[in-house]
Parts: sequence; structure tokens; C-alpha cells
Amino acid sequence: MTILVTGGAGYIGSHTCVELLQKGYEVVIADNFVNSSMDVPERIARITGKMPKVFELDVADSHALDLVFAENHIGAVIHFAGLKAVGESCQIPLRYYRNNLDTTLTLLETMERHGCKKLVFSSSATVYGPKNECPYTEDMPTSATNPYGWTKVMIEQILRDYCAANPEFSAVLLRYFNPIGAHESGLLGDDPNGIPNNLMPYVARVAAGQLPRLTVFGDDYPTRDGSCLRDYLHVVDLAKGHLSALEYAASHTGAEAFNLGTGEGISVLELVHSFQEVNGVPVPFVIGGRRDGDLAEVYANPSRAREELHWTAEKTLDDMCRDSWHFIQTRKAER
Ligand code: NAD
Ligand code: UFG
Repeated sequence: MTILVTGGAGYIGSHTCVELLQKGYEVVIADNFVNSSMDVPERIARITGKMPKVFELDVADSHALDLVFAENHIGAVIHFAGLKAVGESCQIPLRYYRNNLDTTLTLLETMERHGCKKLVFSSSATVYGPKNECPYTEDMPTSATNPYGWTKVMIEQILRDYCAANPEFSAVLLRYFNPIGAHESGLLGDDPNGIPNNLMPYVARVAAGQLPRLTVFGDDYPTRDGSCLRDYLHVVDLAKGHLSALEYAASHTGAEAFNLGTGEGISVLELVHSFQEVNGVPVPFVIGGRRDGDLAEVYANPSRAREELHWTAEKTLDDMCRDSWHFIQTRKAER
């Protein structure tokens, strides 16, 4: 079966392409490379021995997307393409709404024209908003605190409405918690442009001497060590979750949401200590003030994914720290 992977050159998309190719799927990537590097498909090929087909296009461009469907027999789509920086989404909200909603609407219209009825969508734990209590379960009400989060809430609603009107359609809404880590080859990982916003790429760059120190955003939260708890999961485990979602979509219809997380909250300070210990490198840090909008704890109840997708996260925090460090060192050596 051929899978169209929108945003397949990005962090999670590229790892998912590797897993798909290794399982024998044909892969077609559609990406405009707004937040990824043109050499990613070739890196995927170095790992898997197979070059995915690549279309450089904006997924909101319906003519370009039509050609992809016309030239390839697409059996299902995994839709990663989107902008994802929470802070930036507050500064340029229209760009986020335009990009994230338009890509999804154009994709659905194009799928409809070509009779493609299976979609796996990259949603986020951010849709649980600020009011629910952890661990989050899929039946909780959704909301958001920033434009990025609202795009995910809105797209989930669009997919529910579309499925209600099209009973043969299957939309699997995967709510990712905090993916970190990298491919064990060191060839793929999270390599943001500029100064990272997210914890793990920041920690890795401090350890590599590319940034002077980490600021831990707050140690006065009501958690076991005062720093925030997050549900970190290895990006390769997350990538494998998409294969489980495709199998689920093959035998189910309707819009269904699944948490992809470990179910365990790890604190910022615990992550920093593990990184130092596993890799034997210092990560200098200072304690700073709280970051606007941060919640004290965010972690999943992952039972539904375990029971219905037959998926569980297997890799440990040590694996995540080791692979992130290996990736940044490989990157450094390449430059
Ligand atoms: P990423 O930025 O690395 O990957 C997204 C890819 O989409 C990039 O390659 C980018 O160039 C491409 N893209 C963006 N807009 C496009 C457009 N209009 N047309 C074509 N390509 C476009 O991000 P990621 O971390 O791999 O995240 C993938 C998806 O998962 C996103 O939808 C994101 O919101 C979601 N998600 C990510 C996280 C996380 O922590 N990384 C958490 C929850 C949800
Ligand atoms: N943190 C620091 N210092 C830093 C960066 C982060 O202390 O320099 C802390 C944050 O305060 C937070 C934790 O590390 O407590 C994790 O922060 P991230 O920015 O890595 O991740 P978030 O949980 O804030 O957000 C991530 C994605 C969102 C997604 C959300 C889903 O960035 O897109 O997970 O839970 F919506």
C-alpha cells in the first residue's frame, strides 16, 4: 500500500517514513520544507535502503496535491504538515490558522476527489486545555490556550464532522504527548532552526557547548521536585504508533482519538539529571521564573491506545537521552 505522508521531512514524519518503509509500505512525501531540510529524504534512504518519492509542495495547493493523487495510488494519508511553535502562534495567529486549517481542508477535499478514505492526523495533548486533570483520557472535553492549540481542536472537530457526513471515512486522531529522542543511527532527529523552544533540543545544545546554560522554567510548581512534569516518549515509539493507527483505520470508520504517551510524568530536573548521567556530560542550568502558559503536569492515560491500537511506548528515558545526544554529536561532526 502507498502512504502519502504530508510533512514527511519533519521531525516525527521522517521517523515515521523510516518505520513505514521498513514495514514494506511505499512512501510518498509531500512537504514544502518550511521547517525541515531538503536532505532528509536521502537520510531516510540511507537508513532504509529505499528512497521515498518526494513532492515539494504546499499541502494547501490543491492543484499540486491533485497531481500527487493522480500519479500515485494513495491508500491512506498521514497528515503531519503544520506549523507547531506555540509562542510563534501567539505572535502570528493568522499564519497558523491559515496554514494548519487550509492544509487539512485541501487535503480532505483532494482525498474525497480521489476516493481516499483513511487519514491519520497529528493532534496534540495540548487539546486537553488547562482545566482537565491528569492523567488525561480521550473522553475529556477539549480546549486550548493558544492559536496553535486551537488549530488542533478545530481540525479534530472538522474531522469529526466530516466522518459524521461520510460514514465510510476513517480519521485516527493521534494526540501526541512530548516526543523527544532521535533515530539510533544519528541521521534523523529534532534539529530546530535558531534557539530551540523545547526542552530536549535545548538540553542537547547546552551539553554540546552550543548554548551556555539551560534555564529551568520554575521550581515552585506543586510537583515532587517543583519543576513541571511532562510525558516524554521516544520519537521512534511515536512513529510506530502511526503504523498501529493505519492498521486500525483499515478495519474501523469514524473519527477516533488516541493518546500516544507513556503515562508517566517526568520532571524537567529529572530529565536533565538523566541526560547528564547517561551521557556523562554536564548540562549547566539555572532556575528561572515560570514560562507563560505552562501547566504543572501533562501526562496521558495511554490505555486506549494499548487496548485498541495494540501500541505501547517501549523505550526508556535513558534511550531518549542517549539518542538525542548521539544525534547532536553526529550533526556537529557533519558540519
Ligand atoms: P516539524 O515542523 O518537524 O514537521 C512538520 C513538517 O511539515 C515540516 O517538514 C514542514 O516543512 C512541513 N509543513 C508545514 N507546513 C506545510 C505546508 N503548508 N505544506 C507542506 N509541508 C508543510 O514538526 P513535528 O514535530 O514533526 O510535528 C509534526 C506534527 O505533529 C505537526 O502537525 C505538529 O503540530 C504535531 N505535534 C508535534 C508535537 C511535538 O512535540 N513535536 C507534539 C504534538 C503534535
Ligand atoms: N522547559 C524549560 N526550559 C526550556 C524549555 C522548556 O524548563 O528551555 C520546560 C518547560 O517549562 C516545560 C518542559 O520543559 O515544563 C517541556 O517544555 P517543552 O517546550 O519541551 O514542551 P511543552 O510541554 O511545553 O509543549 C510540547 C510541544 C507542544 C505540544 C505539547 C503537548 O511543544 O507543541 O508538548 O503536550 F502541544
